[in-house]
Amino acid sequence: MPILTRLAQMFLISIKSAKICVLFLLCGKVLAECHRSQVNNMCYSIPGKVVEVEKNFATVDYFGQRKRARSDFYEISVGDYVYAQGGFVIRKVGEKEAQLAIEAWKDLFDELAKTDIRLTEKKENIREIANKLRREHTGNSSCVHGIIEFSNHCRNNCLYCGLRKDNVNLSRYRMSIEDIVSAADYAVNKLGFKALVFQSGEDPFYDDEKLAAIVKTVMEKNPVLIVLSIGEREISTYKKLYDSGARGVLMRFETANASLYEKYRPGHHLEERLSLLGRLKNIGYMIISGFLLGLPGQSKKDILEDIKTTASMGVEMFSFGPLIPNPDTPLCGVNAPPIDLVLDTIARTRIIYPDSRILVTTATETLDRKNAAQKALLSGANSVMINVTPEEYQSLYYLYPQRAASGRKIAERISDVIELLKSLGRAPSDIGLS
Ligand code: 5AD
Ligand code: SF4
Repeated sequence: MPILTRLAQMFLISIKSAKICVLFLLCGKVLAECHRSQVNNMCYSIPGKVVEVEKNFATVDYFGQRKRARSDFYEISVGDYVYAQGGFVIRKVGEKEAQLAIEAWKDLFDELAKTDIRLTEKKENIREIANKLRREHTGNSSCVHGIIEFSNHCRNNCLYCGLRKDNVNLSRYRMSIEDIVSAADYAVNKLGFKALVFQSGEDPFYDDEKLAAIVKTVMEKNPVLIVLSIGEREISTYKKLYDSGARGVLMRFETANASLYEKYRPGHHLEERLSLLGRLKNIGYMIISGFLLGLPGQSKKDILEDIKTTASMGVEMFSFGPLIPNPDTPLCGVNAPPIDLVLDTIARTRIIYPDSRILVTTATETLDRKNAAQKALLSGANSVMINVTPEEYQSLYYLYPQRAASGRKIAERISDVIELLKSLGRAPSDIGLS
């Protein structure tokens, strides 16, 4: 090959890699300090153009790929640019801002998609098969959601959980409404998140009024997909919070085996949990749910039932992970399951439900802090969550010891995740290329 052609090729390659590096850098730590909204917006979601509107449903185009999203918060017309998350239009953006973001993503998507294709060539075991199916069915997108753990008080006594009310060794905290709103503000405006989970133990201190105030204020100041993870509440509470602007619920049913459920969640019944999840879905919430792996007495058949039960609820995303023994709980003596069980469960879920979104949970990462997230993403998972709880509270949300990412600063964690996604050819966005 003539030397000049070779040099030109090398130049083009280096420009492309430089662009990728720059985008990921922007998405990572540097972004934390960056105020330019068009750069922020590139990170975890990309804008699309509305090409069709039918009642309050918009068909949104992303580089030729079309997705439907419900627009509850805005009047939408053909030609508008929007950010959508979890099937909901969460923000309208100006054309100029949208074009900038779309331009910046265009080539990068192709580059990432190529890496993903290269990494999904082999199909020698169920994890590799699952990973290939993941790419074929959902593309290379990887949702990145933030989570704010705003209270570690809980009125329940689940036998596995460090937040259980009988655990007297835990220092308890509750964030004020103002602090919760300002943590969300930081996550949305400074870190670029488009979907936030608000999680706590089941803590009645936050009554309807307080919860609605949080949801309303966040939606007024920083429209974002709000996912509630606040446990079993009155259906009227969930209706109010839906009316205030929340659109997602994260609530695991923990195990689909009714007798294990009642044993490990004393005073609670599986039917009630499943029925609540069904009612929340009927209100219009998008549901994230799943189960624990490694509960004593759980069989392989139970796990298969857990996978099927999660899917039967029409979830938007699977969230399951290993039980990590907590020394301050009655299940202190059990062993965490091997990571292979978790990875194979991810792979099986993907193979049975190839279109699904499957979260890499923090407990999974805790089993192998260095490699589990990568292994899970290569076994069929395609979503990650980043803890954006103010750092002073993170160690107190002590579900189990040695939680992955504990001790890491939020900015470091974001750059770890972005670096990992980049290395695997995943677009840190709800949209990807198949
Ligand atoms: N190990 C792993 N996950 C746990 N959870 C609670 N305790 C533990 C533990 N020891 C999970 C439960 C709950 C979620 C908030 O945390 O599945 O739904
Ligand atoms: Fe409370 Fe949830 Fe922990 Fe059970 S698992 S004790 S409901 S925080």
